[in-house]
Amino acid sequence: MCGIVGYIGNNAVAEELINGLKNLEYRGYDSAGVALNDNKNIDIFKAKGKLCNLCDVLNLHQKDLQNSTGGIGHIRWATHGSPTVENAHPHCSADGKLVLVHNGIIENYKELREELVKEGFAFVSQTDTETAVHLIDRTYRQTHSLEEAVLNAVKRLKGAFAFCIMHKDEPDKIIAVRKNAPLIVGLGDNENFIASDIPAVIGKVKKIIYLDDAEMAIVSKNKVEIKNFNGQLLDKKAELISFSAETISKRGYKHFMLKEICEQPDIIRNILAQRMSDVNNQIQLPQVNWNEILKKSKVEIIACGTSLHAAMVAKYFMEDLLGIPVHVEAASEYIYRKTVTDENTLTIGISQSGETADTITAVKQAQDKNAHILILTNRPDSSIVRYADSLIPLEAGIEVSVAATKSYTAQLISLYLLTLAWAERKESLTVRLQKLKQELLEIPAKLEEILSNENCIKKCSELFQKYKSFIYIARGINLPTAMEGALKLKEISYINASGYAAGELKHGPIALLDENMPVLAVLIPGTPTYDKILSNCEEAKARQAHLIAVTSSHDEHLNTIFDEIIQIPFSDEVFSPVLANVPLQLLAYHIADNLGREVDQPRNLAKSVTVE
Ligand code: M6R
Repeated sequence: MCGIVGYIGNNAVAEELINGLKNLEYRGYDSAGVALNDNKNIDIFKAKGKLCNLCDVLNLHQKDLQNSTGGIGHIRWATHGSPTVENAHPHCSADGKLVLVHNGIIENYKELREELVKEGFAFVSQTDTETAVHLIDRTYRQTHSLEEAVLNAVKRLKGAFAFCIMHKDEPDKIIAVRKNAPLIVGLGDNENFIASDIPAVIGKVKKIIYLDDAEMAIVSKNKVEIKNFNGQLLDKKAELISFSAETISKRGYKHFMLKEICEQPDIIRNILAQRMSDVNNQIQLPQVNWNEILKKSKVEIIACGTSLHAAMVAKYFMEDLLGIPVHVEAASEYIYRKTVTDENTLTIGISQSGETADTITAVKQAQDKNAHILILTNRPDSSIVRYADSLIPLEAGIEVSVAATKSYTAQLISLYLLTLAWAERKESLTVRLQKLKQELLEIPAKLEEILSNENCIKKCSELFQKYKSFIYIARGINLPTAMEGALKLKEISYINASGYAAGELKHGPIALLDENMPVLAVLIPGTPTYDKILSNCEEAKARQAHLIAVTSSHDEHLNTIFDEIIQIPFSDEVFSPVLANVPLQLLAYHIADNLGREVDQPRNLAKSVTVE
């Protein structure tokens, strides 16, 4: 969590830092701060809350900011210490000469803090970060070399850290270091940038260097040197940025979330065009090692949040189409128990960001047990990829809104492609396989049809936004759809919502039902449980609950049960989770927007959860 930036060059430093931080706001918005170096002094400006509060503070000091030549900045998602100005970064040494911003968690900060306090260092915040400042400062006082002091200090730190560090007495450089937290250096003309993620430098530079773990960058206006933690110079190649500035603009939409929902048909069309030229040709997943995967007798899928829901959907169709056992587990649970993972296991790690700490740890554990690791991520440049034996990039484009939408759909499509590709390499299912491949190609047009119905979903949102709590029900392959729909509503509207297996309603949750508890049901006709869910809905109606259906059925009888019916196109049940999910995304979006919520930046959340 948290985002860090650094800039050294001739432009207005505060402006460059704020522009970078704006594009990293998805990483946290509890507080923000910058430190500006004008070759004589380092000035720190901080504000609690969103970046706009920091902009107000900086505006008040406009005249003091003219001569800065370098600076570092931070946006915070609070871990150690509440979101106050004292705990906001940058943190500085007692003499104000050394300043630092941090993304990550220093796990051994308590023992280091005790050691430093005994030596007389005074702490002014509750953060783990401040230990790093004093640790570096302690050596700097002896060596008078920032590089040496940093290298010395990082050897003592356990946990995850990406730092940008400046010292008043070495104003021509910013030092950046990385261990288990992402960091890039953007290479410009007479200026250089440092950032936690690419969006901060899109449109500013064309080339970047990805720092790897245990690497340090010494960044000046005209020069960037990369060294390892032993101080040896490394020859790192710069890479071209493949994203355009368009990818991180709202393009006229009110929120990134709505833009990202509406992008889904095109994204899926592109993925399918890359992977499936024709139903008669084999599906292409070039970074998948089929020699290894075809030998595996069991699959486990590990993920968190929305990615976990994609994994849950995949279990249904993988077991159905491949006939092998698939175990799905939240990464945060997986890492604290003895699993039966072994060399016969294919472990699939799914993570939009590729930076989720729980998922990374789980994947690493599976690798230690000799499983073959297949990673599905939207960020092939992310930390999780270093554990990948096989890789499927999601190709959803940068997802800015904290609520995952297009990445979920891209995860589902990639999991379908994986399963169908596996089935065709096993030479099973020929007739059904052809039919499913054909249907897969029809999904983008069906998604467009759903999106063209947005007004009907908006109307439904206006009728239902008054409720304080919702129940979402479904069965089988759409149970995760109900859970994902409920998660989306919860996280952006702050309305309580739970996803239940419809058959479980009568075992407890039915006690909640009355006229104040609407029930949303996902009903796919032609499935063995369609009539059963309908009966569950009748039972809810008998208890005065108001009901919404998301369905591809045109059965007239539904009008007698449901207050609102959201129609989706018909498909094989296997693909219904992709279609049924989009109206739930739109419903959550419109309810949250109607209620005036901060849709793209819901409270307490951040896009990538890099702490356990
Ligand atoms: O980047 P990841 O896919 O690993 O993220 C996992 C979850 O943190 C994420 O899906 C989260 O639940 C989102 N807020 C859902 O909208």
